[in-house]
Amino acid sequence: MSGPLLKVENLTKHYPLGTGFLKKSVPVIRAVEEVSFSVEAGETLCIVGESGCGKSTVARLLMRLVEPTGGRVLLDGTDIAGLKKEALHAWRRRIQMVFQDPYSSLNPRLTAGRIITEPVENFERLSRKQRQALAADLLRKVGMSPEMMHRLPSDLSGGQRQRLGIARALSLNPSLIIADEAVSALDVSVQAQILNLLRDLQQQMGIAFVFISHDLGVVEHFAHRVAVMYLGRIVELAPCEALFTKPVHPYTEALIGAAPVPDPRRVRLEAPVEGEVPSPINPPSGCAFHPRCPLALERCRIEVPPLVPMPDGRVVACHVRAPATDIPGRPVLAGDRWSL
Ligand SMILES: Nc1ncnc2c1ncn2[C@@H]1O[C@H](COP(=O)(O)OP(=O)(O)O)[C@@H](O)[C@H]1O
Ligand code: SF4
Ligand SMILES: [Mg+2]
Repeated sequence: MSGPLLKVENLTKHYPLGTGFLKKSVPVIRAVEEVSFSVEAGETLCIVGESGCGKSTVARLLMRLVEPTGGRVLLDGTDIAGLKKEALHAWRRRIQMVFQDPYSSLNPRLTAGRIITEPVENFERLSRKQRQALAADLLRKVGMSPEMMHRLPSDLSGGQRQRLGIARALSLNPSLIIADEAVSALDVSVQAQILNLLRDLQQQMGIAFVFISHDLGVVEHFAHRVAVMYLGRIVELAPCEALFTKPVHPYTEALIGAAPVPDPRRVRLEAPVEGEVPSPINPPSGCAFHPRCPLALERCRIEVPPLVPMPDGRVVACHVRAPATDIPGRPVLAGDRWSL
């Protein structure tokens, strides 16, 4: 099959506020607005942005846990919206999720072995022997001893519980794993172990990741490409190294510039840019970043900037740094790139 493994086209999710029974139009929370990206087999696409910018909603839309207001999600070219029961089942096997808090996402009454074999048992009956063999294999894959299969989640450390969450996601041999803040609750040293594990698994099994994090530092050494979200929209999507060495969008630049010295890899996106994140109920007109942007022009208050492809393979939504009228092939990063 040629083409990307996952293709997301203009994905949009609005949550209505109330029923609007007596009102003509119901106000909505614009959680995700026209998000488009693709993920190749075996690739890691990281999605970063401040809290509330719509990252988890994108994850839920990809998993089909919520219905989109608009747009499409295609896996190997097939739109999930049209799938009937069996095809949807098969589709679900291929995309798995790892959550932020392994403790609340694991059934506390089941043993580790049961937890990680449960997804398979939802599809086929396993004998006790088969189940134990599968559990041992999955535990080994995530660097745990097979004896751990008899333990309860409460007997495990945070890192071990997250390994269990990963083993569970691996059990159906997925093509794509969506990890939503999967290492955010862990200590820095455990974070590094889990990221190494994910990278090893990717190399061995060719799994693609959509890895969501508010922590730019986590993403830098893990992503192949990075999508930066602001108030529901992607504002820049670039190869990882290019993004960190030459951010183009003023928001990306501010995030990277906010890296605290002496360890520039540890960037927390809680409040990296001056000013409040505006409300997604009534987002600013034009470019939603304009109230916080030092480069904002009059045009920025009026027109939403489109995502414009750059010669180095990234896309950027900014009237100043990536004007839509630019000729493709323009050396955007050369010389006086900021004096456009
Ligand atoms: N089920 C929901 N109902 C209403 N609003 C929601 C719901 N889920 C998320 N939101 C809102 O959508 C916006 C994006 O949320 P979310 O995707 O969780 O952001 P992130 O994961 O980036 O922190 C937030 O304003 C949030 O309050
Ligand atoms: S479009 Fe305007 S307001 Fe938005 S990031 Fe670019 S310069 Fe700033
Ligand atoms: Mg979230």
